Amino acid sequence: TVLVKELFRNSDSHTNKSIKVSGWIRTSRVSKTFGFIELNDGSFFKNVQIVFDESLDNFKEISKLPISSAIVVEGKLEETPNSKQPFEIKAENISIEALSSSEYPLQKKRHSLEFLRSIAHLRPRSNTFSAVFRVRSLVAYAIHKFFQERGFVYTHTPIITGSDCEGAGQMFRVTTLDMKNIPLNNDKDIDFSRDFFGKETNLTVSGQLEAEAYALAFRNVYTFGPTFRAENSNTARHASEFWMIEPEIAFADLSDNMELAEDMLKYIIQYVLDNAPEEMEFFNNFIDNTLLDRLHNILNSEFAKVSYTEAVQMLIDSNENFEYPVEWGCDLQTEHERYLTEKIFKKPVFVTNYPKDIKAFYMRLNDDNKTVAAMDLLVPGVGEIIGGSQREERLDILEKRMEEMNLNKDDYWWYLELRKYGGVKHAGYGLGFERAIMYITGISNIRDVIPFPRTPKSAEF
Ligand code: 4AD
Ligand code: MG
Repeated sequence: TVLVKELFRNSDSHTNKSIKVSGWIRTSRVSKTFGFIELNDGSFFKNVQIVFDESLDNFKEISKLPISSAIVVEGKLEETPNSKQPFEIKAENISIEALSSSEYPLQKKRHSLEFLRSIAHLRPRSNTFSAVFRVRSLVAYAIHKFFQERGFVYTHTPIITGSDCEGAGQMFRVTTLDMKNIPLNNDKDIDFSRDFFGKETNLTVSGQLEAEAYALAFRNVYTFGPTFRAENSNTARHASEFWMIEPEIAFADLSDNMELAEDMLKYIIQYVLDNAPEEMEFFNNFIDNTLLDRLHNILNSEFAKVSYTEAVQMLIDSNENFEYPVEWGCDLQTEHERYLTEKIFKKPVFVTNYPKDIKAFYMRLNDDNKTVAAMDLLVPGVGEIIGGSQREERLDILEKRMEEMNLNKDDYWWYLELRKYGGVKHAGYGLGFERAIMYITGISNIRDVIPFPRTPKSAEF
């Protein structure tokens, strides 16, 4: 059996030879004496065309197969220089592997993304989601490749944790249940104080603190894992469960951090353009027709950089009527982020040095005593995809910040200890994996880049 991807990539070596393919019927067009089947075998975004005629003894049966039935085809690969597809398979034998019900909901027509969301178990069989989830897999691989080629150590940080990295309190609690002793549907009898065998724990919001510990041993590390946020926001870019990539680099400052982020993003874009050209062309044709131009421009230009203070001034000077008015000290909302990157800079932009009061405790305090060495990367179409900073390596200043922010230092004892034993300057960032996929594919809702999304309103699957 040959995979369809192999046929498309190396068609020459299979032309006029007998081959066998297996897959699912995507469409079929049949006349009295012959028919065409578009077959997808899962190995490739594109379908292979099967031509069959009444010389098959089961011609009638094959003609009536509902979409999504699985078949095995034996036949010859023939070049078709005058048609849309480069080749087709002239069937000599077709056997039925699995018959589909004719109620199959994904009939050949354009379905809305909302409808497809309601059949999350079937949507990977549609063109759009076949492309999205292939690209998602490739981007994950490209990220590992980027960091591994540069000698970064992949570090697995815990999912169940006692600390709140972002200090924002938006966490899911972990509790132990003894199902034998709890009547189902009776929350009153659940003893939430048991938690994690007596300790209070949560699902991690970020692996950063643990990554810092490993960066101070291995110099350059990265995490790549699931993170959880209990923020109850129903937006197109927030999920309760998402994946984050968090590099952490020692002997490095904020500009090293920005350089790494820019190199990484360009690397993964180039990798996807090189390795998923069919999918990327599909997105450009059906999702966002500026996508390929935009991505190519990015590869050929430098990301912009602007300080928070300058950015706020630009937003004020724009005289734009924002829903949330801008002033120094406010957190930038999505509308502000998108205005900066889409209207002012028209490319990815790093916003740096935010006011300390709107950022997490671990960010390094600048000499002005008002701002911290933070960086957010904003991109057109999505807004923030990366949040990062240089870390506060000075123990006394870090402790003072934690006191100001009412954090319990005892909870962070090991984190503070890192500053005592060779705590060099270091920096890192978190890339929201789904936001990166949105950016690279042009898909505008985070629910459409996660196989089975978890958001406040959806956990059906
Ligand atoms: O800006 P955030 O909160 O930064 C951190 O968690 C740092 N500890 C990272 C670090 O320095 N190591 O989150 C990082 C990124 C955001 O820029 C965004 O892309 C993504 O994670 N993100 C979300 N993605 C989807 N749904 C959510 N609810 C998200 N919250 C953050
Ligand atoms: Mg952030």
